[in-house]
Amino acid sequence: MAFGFKTLQNLQEKLAADSIKIPLAADVSPLFSERVIYGRRAANRIVIHPMEGCDGTPDGKPDDLTARRYTRFAQSGAGIIWFEAVSILPEARANPRQLYLHDGSAEDFRRLTEHIKQTCFRKNGYEPLIILQATHSGRYAKPRGIPAPIIACHNTNFERERPLPDSAIVTDDELRTAEQRFGQTAKLAKESGFDGIDIKACHGYLLGECLSAFTRPGPYGGSFENRTRLLKNAIQAASAHKSPGFFITARIGAYDGFEYPYGFGARRDGQVGPDYAEAITLCDLLREQYGLELVNITIGNPYQNPHVNRPYDSGISSPPENPLGGVERLLNAARAVQKAVPSLSVTATGFSYLRQFGPNAAAAMLKQGDCAFAGFGRQAIAYPCFVEDLRERGALKPEKCCVTCSKCTQLMRAGSAAGCVVRDSEVYLPLYKESVLKA
Ligand SMILES: Cc1cc2nc3c(=O)[nH]c(=O)nc-3n(C[C@H](O)[C@H](O)[C@H](O)COP(=O)(O)O)c2cc1C
Repeated sequence: MAFGFKTLQNLQEKLAADSIKIPLAADVSPLFSERVIYGRRAANRIVIHPMEGCDGTPDGKPDDLTARRYTRFAQSGAGIIWFEAVSILPEARANPRQLYLHDGSAEDFRRLTEHIKQTCFRKNGYEPLIILQATHSGRYAKPRGIPAPIIACHNTNFERERPLPDSAIVTDDELRTAEQRFGQTAKLAKESGFDGIDIKACHGYLLGECLSAFTRPGPYGGSFENRTRLLKNAIQAASAHKSPGFFITARIGAYDGFEYPYGFGARRDGQVGPDYAEAITLCDLLREQYGLELVNITIGNPYQNPHVNRPYDSGISSPPENPLGGVERLLNAARAVQKAVPSLSVTATGFSYLRQFGPNAAAAMLKQGDCAFAGFGRQAIAYPCFVEDLRERGALKPEKCCVTCSKCTQLMRAGSAAGCVVRDSEVYLPLYKESVLKA
């Protein structure tokens, strides 16, 4: 089923016919109300999700294409720019051009955050909150362009065809070092002008994988307390640098999309599907004991089940389910956490598949108290001025929207800089031809 809905009513009819519950509101004004988090003002409820561009320099600094992407995001007017995955260690990079924050690159990051703030202020009259997403790529580490996995434990989902040696399993001491490194990255992020740091725990990367390390012995595996230890300790280390101008948050993968015991958030009754009980317990704990006021909820694994992670129409293979059902699942995850922990501000994920109607779903979610912020990923790279169009016209232009063709991901997987091949073709179509089509 390719997305071909021309009106909100067409979409509503299809949802009703398929018994899929995605709330939709004609009035998108809830997206433009302010919200205070950590004593800081977000000018509106629109978040640009972290979207890796794989366009840094070999030593991890933002390069020309990085600056171009963030200039466009800054102009958009989103209240929060959730900066892409930035590595905490050289061996933890997912590709040789992943950004990496260290003493030698901090000044370049500082210049970029200053530029983002000034650009947004000049265009929109306010500064966005900018959150650095700090990551350890773990199983997906590829710092020199070839896989160099660092895993929490073996997992048959990933290793059926290519088993990894035990030497790929990260030691407890290495995890303790990583925790400290999250603390140092927080210090650098603060000095570089970020308003907050996200300790990334999703999408199968190291902290996300630890959440489901049911079979790992020792202090980082087995029980809920142990599986969440790396995330909690990394947050603790980062919290040493908390201040009125700098906060700590986390992007949490509430459900990996795999069966228990090979994924977080899975039902344990033999059925396939999400059980958000542990994600809720974790978020409640992060709110009550670690002082987090904001989380970003996501699900799935972009390598193994991309249809769960980012519903799409076309890609390397066709999606195995109705993508609207995928959107429903994503929104349900955010709603489950938001309703269970109402004092937390939850950023929801899953709106880009809905094209011009994404803001209608976001506004309905906000109105119902199902989330506090709405995050847009692929839509933001396809249509960076979508916030402006929405504010001025009350609607998006269909011809500018993301078409969920997965070419941005194909670029990443091919080792190229990533962006929108369809709507930003001047820059990314030549890269696509060179790296994906030729290969
Ligand atoms: C090209 C690309 C890069 C991405 N980079 C990141 C990233 O750096 N960090 C992250 O947490 N998620 C990343 N994601 C996932 C998005 O943030 C988002 O969760 C996903 O695309 C679903 O949201 P959407 O439907 O609005 O696109 C990426 C997705 C794509 C397609």
